[in-house]
Amino acid sequence: MSEAASASVSATGLASEIRRRRTFAIISHPDAGKTTLTERILRAGGAIQLAGNVRAKGERRRTKSDWMGIERDRGISVVTSVMTFEYGGCVFNLLDTPGHEDFSEDTYRTLTAVDCAVMVIDAAKGIEDRTRKLFEICRLRDIPIVTFINKMDREAQDCFGLLDEIASTLALDTSPATWPIGRAGHFAGTYDMRTREIRGEAATLSQSDARMVALSEELELAEAALPLFDRESFDAGHLTPVFFGSAMKEIGVTDLLDALVAYGPEPRAQPSETREVKADEEQVTALIFKIQANMDPNHRDRMAFARICSGRLTRGMRLKHVRTGKQFALHTPQFFFARDRQLAEEAFAGDVVGLPNHGTLRIGDTLSESEELRFTGVPHFAPEILRRVRLDDAMKAKKLRQALVELAEEGVVQLFRPQDGLPPIVGVVGTLQLDVLQSRLQGEYGVAIGFESTPYTIARWVTGERTKIEAYSMANRSAMADDLDGDPVFLASSNFMMRRMVEMNPDLAFHDIKQIGLSN
Ligand code: G4P
Repeated sequence: MSEAASASVSATGLASEIRRRRTFAIISHPDAGKTTLTERILRAGGAIQLAGNVRAKGERRRTKSDWMGIERDRGISVVTSVMTFEYGGCVFNLLDTPGHEDFSEDTYRTLTAVDCAVMVIDAAKGIEDRTRKLFEICRLRDIPIVTFINKMDREAQDCFGLLDEIASTLALDTSPATWPIGRAGHFAGTYDMRTREIRGEAATLSQSDARMVALSEELELAEAALPLFDRESFDAGHLTPVFFGSAMKEIGVTDLLDALVAYGPEPRAQPSETREVKADEEQVTALIFKIQANMDPNHRDRMAFARICSGRLTRGMRLKHVRTGKQFALHTPQFFFARDRQLAEEAFAGDVVGLPNHGTLRIGDTLSESEELRFTGVPHFAPEILRRVRLDDAMKAKKLRQALVELAEEGVVQLFRPQDGLPPIVGVVGTLQLDVLQSRLQGEYGVAIGFESTPYTIARWVTGERTKIEAYSMANRSAMADDLDGDPVFLASSNFMMRRMVEMNPDLAFHDIKQIGLSN
């Protein structure tokens, strides 16, 4: 075979491998059924063999995606985990997002690494507060949304009403992909609007069964009143296909997975400072969107989660770490199934792999086979809660410093080192992050800390000419701090003061968002 011919064969192979990647997250309001649906999806994908609801009470939330002590203790999902599995000829990467809003920054970063989000809605409650907020984050990037209306085995709102509510509160067209057969205790399966198949127990019902009679009446109305699925509109994030089901009763779960197999979406192009990088480009590029240390107490390792943005990654490959200009060797890229890991001999655009490292890789970093490019879109948000760290045992000051840097690099909190030399200040979006920091410092580093209040409620990154920043820093020393990257941050005690500073310093800009990876 000529060189040109073999190159084109491998290009086709590359494109078809990439086309079968499905990388998604599940978003929902707490209690809508995300954990249950995740479990059922993983089971359908053969990733876990768990016999129904056998978990003991109190252990209910100890699903495979929860691996940290604090999550188990509190029954909340704090860390983002990644789970890779195969289903229907596709390779799925399911990224778990923390349910609690105190971890919204982590959630935001995770959503930069997905191609699609499954929005779970409780059929009795409809769109809830957190669903709306998460949806808005998806909309910022026009991420396609698939809707799963869960708990149809219970008393639910009227289906047309639910579809209407989604359409009007989220300004999103809805196209039912399935229709429920029977309701509440009589929920018996789903009707596929596309193939006209009946799935589940309902397939055995006679046409005279009241549920089948109701189905044909509702279908007539649904088909007349609701838009058909339109691939383009879905890909653009304007239309959501809607599935009805019950995660608990395992009805409608494979409808959802089959649809993801059938119409994707496939790995999308990723924006960089200079251009959009397409998934099927041959050169490998990857974006680090999450760092996780000490995942396994037996291995004190640090794992960077990388979304492969283009090409085919192979083990042993060396990529350029664009921020430092150094080479990064991929000795042990890994696929994850929460606690279980597996060496990834090869991975394709769309896949998420873990890259063990010793602190070289940071959130927002780009790895690239050749081109000097930097992916954008992974921001830091200005924290709303600022606390000074109080160390109980002065002998541990050095250990604390190192631990704070490591945990800040992971994105657990943001770290600010006051320029006047006083003890460090940590910034968070939600107070639960402080609990996580405290518990991890104790559990993983053996350092006990407390928090003290500060006069500050606002943090802003300051940019402008160097000399101007230096002069400003000198004049406001006690309210200036350096962030993890050494970038200057101004801390204000009120909106009034912040406004005054902005007015008095027209040569400087004060930012409440910092794009990671762009500062040096
Ligand atoms: P979350 O991750 O979104 O917070 O929700 P999770 O899956 O933990 O589910 C929240 C509650 O809703 C759980 O009940 C769960 O069993 C129930 N649930 C989830 N899916 C369905 C469904 O399709 N139908 C019905 N009827 N219930 C569902 P719980 O009372 O908190 O716990 P447990 O008693 O089931 O252990």
